[in-house]
Amino acid sequence: MNPFVVGNWKMNLSLEEASTLAMDLRQGLEGVDGVEVGVCPPFVWLPGVCFVLMGTKIRVGAQNMHWEKKGAFTGEVSGPMLKDVGCTHVLLGHSERRHLFGETDSMINKKLKTALSLGLKVIFCLGERLEEREGGETFTVVERQFTAGLEGVGQEALPELTIAYEPVWAIGTGKNATPEQAQEVHGHLRNLLENKYGNETASQVRIQYGGSVTPENAGELLAQPDINGLLVGGASLKKDSFLKIVFTTQERMRSPI
Ligand code: 13P
Repeated sequence: MNPFVVGNWKMNLSLEEASTLAMDLRQGLEGVDGVEVGVCPPFVWLPGVCFVLMGTKIRVGAQNMHWEKKGAFTGEVSGPMLKDVGCTHVLLGHSERRHLFGETDSMINKKLKTALSLGLKVIFCLGERLEEREGGETFTVVERQFTAGLEGVGQEALPELTIAYEPVWAIGTGKNATPEQAQEVHGHLRNLLENKYGNETASQVRIQYGGSVTPENAGELLAQPDINGLLVGGASLKKDSFLKIVFTTQERMRSPI
């Protein structure tokens, strides 16, 4: 199982900046091996980025989608549109969607099922807020998000799924979870996967960590047994830092200790 490193550009970069970054990644990642890499640009930059990255191994994902395939949903974007434009992946349940835009577990579950039914691969994000961690509720919260988000999702869909553990208090704060804190939750998520889908299937699902990932902390996070990739926000907006994270991941896989 190759680790999966994804850059979530969020609502950043001009058209020119996005095109330049995509071209730089195309060139910079040409020889990369043993790591799967993806980027999630804003909706409007998807066609251009898909065009630049066509024929490369770099995956392109959207940051969100609606659960209906079409209709009167002003301002929304559907799964079939994402497929049309060339996306292979979609991020669902990101904490900014949950907490700034009121997305519920049940909305995320509907989106997840639609995306999987369309053949889009899903990066399913979950994670606790600071007050929940401080209140000792981390496991309860991620378990609720996991169970509700994956309700009705069968084992056959699991190869299309990546889980991203992103503690809300670590996102954009410069305060990443320690490798031990992250591993504790990743281990718990692996147990939840085992209980729901069996050991073999569970062992094949990649669980990414996200939240203030940098070139400096990527290696120690990836050294944990259940951290199988990274979901990178701020550090994915600059060619140098994102490439460094990918190359650190590649090195880590070649010499695991
Ligand atoms: P930062 O890496 O900027 O903390 O963002 C993490 C994130 O939310 C990725 O989806």
